[in-house]
Amino acid sequence: MAPHFTSSANDISSSSSSAQSRLANISAHMSPSTQSSVFTQDVVPQAPEDPLFGLMAAFRRDTSPNKVDLGVGAYRDDNAKPWVLPVVKMAEEKLRKDPQLNHEYLPIAGLADFTSAAAKLILGGDSPAIKENRVASFQTISGTGAVHLGALFLAKFYPRTANQPVYFSAPTWVNHHQIFGNVGLPVQTYPYFSSSTKGLDFTGMIKGIEAAPEGSIILLHACAHNPTGVDPTAEQWKEIAAVIRSKNHFPFFDCAYQGFASGDLKRDAWAVQYFIEQGFELVVAQSFAKNFGLYGERTGCFHYVAAPSGAEASSTATRVASQLAILQRSEISNPPAYGARIASAVLNDPALFAEWEGNLRTMSGRIITMRKALRQNLENMGTPGTWNHITDQIGMFSFTGLTESQVMKLREDHIYLTKNGRISMAGLNTKNIEYFSKCVDKAVRES
Ligand SMILES: Cc1ncc(COP(=O)(O)O)c(C=O)c1O
Repeated sequence: MAPHFTSSANDISSSSSSAQSRLANISAHMSPSTQSSVFTQDVVPQAPEDPLFGLMAAFRRDTSPNKVDLGVGAYRDDNAKPWVLPVVKMAEEKLRKDPQLNHEYLPIAGLADFTSAAAKLILGGDSPAIKENRVASFQTISGTGAVHLGALFLAKFYPRTANQPVYFSAPTWVNHHQIFGNVGLPVQTYPYFSSSTKGLDFTGMIKGIEAAPEGSIILLHACAHNPTGVDPTAEQWKEIAAVIRSKNHFPFFDCAYQGFASGDLKRDAWAVQYFIEQGFELVVAQSFAKNFGLYGERTGCFHYVAAPSGAEASSTATRVASQLAILQRSEISNPPAYGARIASAVLNDPALFAEWEGNLRTMSGRIITMRKALRQNLENMGTPGTWNHITDQIGMFSFTGLTESQVMKLREDHIYLTKNGRISMAGLNTKNIEYFSKCVDKAVRES
């Protein structure tokens, strides 16, 4: 019922004088300078600085002409400069000329031409999952957004009857811990990197996954594992799939480097496609930041794939999509258009696609050349230790095995890398590789 007001002139004057005295009382208690925040130190403690951002800031402050940035997780050309892929320039040109282009909202699930091409890229053009209509794909805020949407969906809907944690490799991309922690999922790790061989601790990995409580969510890096650069072989992936199956675990693939790792899009998608062939129900977080150089355009995709079970699989995918739409709506409403339009233009045009494959080979090829040169230099100088892992590892990063004190020694030579000894191979080029190799040799010998 609507409120009913009756007041005489007297009522008004008496209520206005009491309002005035209330106001006077309030203003007596309100002095802006003495207001204290509800967010006290106990409630909101100072967060530690992100180690990578601290490193980047220190690099920027350094005025040495010799400085080398090996922290950055983005491709650099042989002049240590960001590289706009030629294919991206071509697609931008095409977009600019399109008279139909407007700036309307995209649908909640994103640009359909983009999400369907993205699904084909990672799941395979002739994927049975796509043919059988059992995939739900959502455009996301790059790979981070895809991991987040997946984590949020699983936090809300995955039946963790025994409160199973989510399992990450040790180590993993640091943000995995934050993203899954933020949605309230408990996290655990399985062994992954062997510090003695600087390769995969395969036995440890299998045992760790086997020991995880039945039905755990297992996060796997599809290729070019970050931060180690160490990937399982195809035979090892088969064993990983077998143990995940035997424990009814749920695979969550994070794919941030397809095509960027080996230069071959199909090869880098092999593990995901193998799991799908084996009939797993799974999810994939896909980033187009590295392989298109679209870092700031936040272009990514999240895919849910239902296990093959006839018509039921397709209706499961439809139901999952309906819930993903609600989650997406509450988080970002509609994904950003620009990066998706560029990626879509390339993915859906055979000539541009072929150009992109060439650009991918340029990036991965330069990184592989740098790996070979670094290993060769260290071996030629007889730098103590073994260096085969530099070329055995793949993708953007190498886990060098350099200790924290060696990393700090390198800092004195204006070389910036994270304390765990991870280097971004893209930071090396023909102009700084000799300098870097010599500084590593010195740091290793001095320690
Ligand atoms: C393993 C992994 N997943 C996801 C991402 C997400 O990257 P972006 O959000 O830039 O696509 C990265 C980026 O470094 C990564 O290394």
